[in-house]
Amino acid sequence: MAINYSDPSDELVTRSTAQPEDASEGSLRPRLLNEYIGQEKAKDNLRIFIRAARDRGDSLDHVLLHGPPGLGKTTLAGVIANEMGVNLRITSGPTIEKPGDLAALLTNLQENDILFVDEIHRLNRTVEEVLYPAMEDFAIDIIIGKGPSANSIRLDLPRFTLIGATTRSGQLSAPLRDRFGINLRLELYTPEELRRIVMRSADILGVDIEASGADEIARRSRGTPRIANRLLRRVRDFAQVTADGVITRDVADRALSSLEVDHLGLDNLDRRMLRGIIEYYSGGPVGLEALAATINEEPVTLEDVYEPYLLQQGFLIRTRQGRCVTQKAYEHLGLEFRGQQQISL
Ligand code: ADE
Repeated sequence: MAINYSDPSDELVTRSTAQPEDASEGSLRPRLLNEYIGQEKAKDNLRIFIRAARDRGDSLDHVLLHGPPGLGKTTLAGVIANEMGVNLRITSGPTIEKPGDLAALLTNLQENDILFVDEIHRLNRTVEEVLYPAMEDFAIDIIIGKGPSANSIRLDLPRFTLIGATTRSGQLSAPLRDRFGINLRLELYTPEELRRIVMRSADILGVDIEASGADEIARRSRGTPRIANRLLRRVRDFAQVTADGVITRDVADRALSSLEVDHLGLDNLDRRMLRGIIEYYSGGPVGLEALAATINEEPVTLEDVYEPYLLQQGFLIRTRQGRCVTQKAYEHLGLEFRGQQQISL
């Protein structure tokens, strides 16, 4: 089975989710479901669906993965491909610009292959329309010629599985969403799951780490394995240069404090966001656009990347009138809380 994470010969197939700091992330990715830590509910369901499809000799039904960035959507697509014993082709919504781009990808698939489309909410309308018959009937309609002499021919495709990933399932059109037979929401990881991921990664990277050091990194990784693995590498640098190479709780604490990641994992932008609401909007409510303009960030970055953890930790609440910080946020920032404005949820 060939997992094609990047095929330089094909511009449409890229490792679209790779971040520069994740250059060697590939080596840390689990390959099978029983190596994949966390997301127990999604895994339990997937085990059944994969087993059933394999026993029937069938392709897996189309899968939609949604949730905040960094939770392992691409990794899970790779795991599914390995468990099914099929090829994985990776692309992304913005990369597929024209219907012809999608047709080229689909006609190059082999029977039961998986096509992973990251950021699937960013597919344009004309491409999406080609995808409907492809997902439903495993066929595409190709128009040959122009004007009155144009002809449409139907091209049969191999049976394949589309795995779509998105941080914003609400932005998916209903016809597209309805064509996924399996819909899985990935949740932020617990500190205990992240601790196990950090221990596993440290083992693979050959890093000496104490359980308490892994625990400290886990608690400060905002529920996100990608962040945990990135912090592990940075803490390793500190351990190597400023200590004896072993990551203890004390080394992790010093390293993370130097990186301005606080005890609950909030970074500079988290704190700027909370402070912005307090200083400019008296704690809220404030609309996302206004807040983003105030702190000079993109609204989608605040909503997709920063808010999920701040909401989960109870620093922020969303109301009909906008975002409000909580008393916990004031206390965390060491600011005096003078009571909340009247908010209706
Ligand atoms: N590395 C990154 N994410 C992981 C996960 N969910 N399980 C195991 N290792 C990982």
